[in-house]
Amino acid sequence: MLPTWPYPFWIAHRGAGRLAPENTLAAFKVGMEHGYRAFECDVQLSLDGVPFLLHDDTLDRTSNGHGLGCQLDWAALSKLDAGAWHSPSFVGEPLASLAGLTALAHDHQLALNLELKPAPGQATRVGAGVAQWLHQHWRAPVPPLLSSFEPEALRAARSAGYPMALLRERWGADALPLAQQLGAVAVVCHHATLTAAAIKTLHAAGLKALSYTVNTREEAQRLIAAGVDGLITDAIDSFRP
Ligand code: G3P
Ligand code: MG
Repeated sequence: MLPTWPYPFWIAHRGAGRLAPENTLAAFKVGMEHGYRAFECDVQLSLDGVPFLLHDDTLDRTSNGHGLGCQLDWAALSKLDAGAWHSPSFVGEPLASLAGLTALAHDHQLALNLELKPAPGQATRVGAGVAQWLHQHWRAPVPPLLSSFEPEALRAARSAGYPMALLRERWGADALPLAQQLGAVAVVCHHATLTAAAIKTLHAAGLKALSYTVNTREEAQRLIAAGVDGLITDAIDSFRP
């Protein structure tokens, strides 16, 4: 467990939710303009081991590239347009490297929740590679919170000593023992199944409970009343931290 929980309550999802192309530096800047200082984003490794931001396994939905992101070198990935798919004002926005995001985070004291997002078969490589990269390059006092749906990615990241969170699409009795076995300090659960009882169970074990992707006022209020420790949202124009 961390001595004190250093992460802001409101966390912008994929940079700026839906107001800018997800996981690009432009998105983080829009999030900052809306008052956000904590950001969730999705991290993978290029073929040559460079950590970069991409949600899907493939490049097709959010860039003008094609196929698996992890099968291209960063030199090729860095030339893609990751903004035009969103709207004309973001044409030419590149994919973000973790190096670019780290520079932005260091300049503006941003807190990061880096979701390890391996394509199939990449979990160990991504967990170990991202953690090792951070060990060499991260210099800000608040460490990134590493999260993943893939226990294997967290296991591979563990020795670097960053705080870790287990991601779950559904709350279930297995979440707490697995999080404890992995050495995680939090569980981040989809909001639909995160109950007050689940949050109480996590708190009793000394873990934090966070939830994604919370976009309505009613759901935010329910979770806040239930004692949730952080909310990841797309609705950065509705929720002002
Ligand atoms: O990390 C929380 C959330 O981002 C998990 O879902 O699919 O948006 O990465 P997804
Ligand atoms: Mg994510």
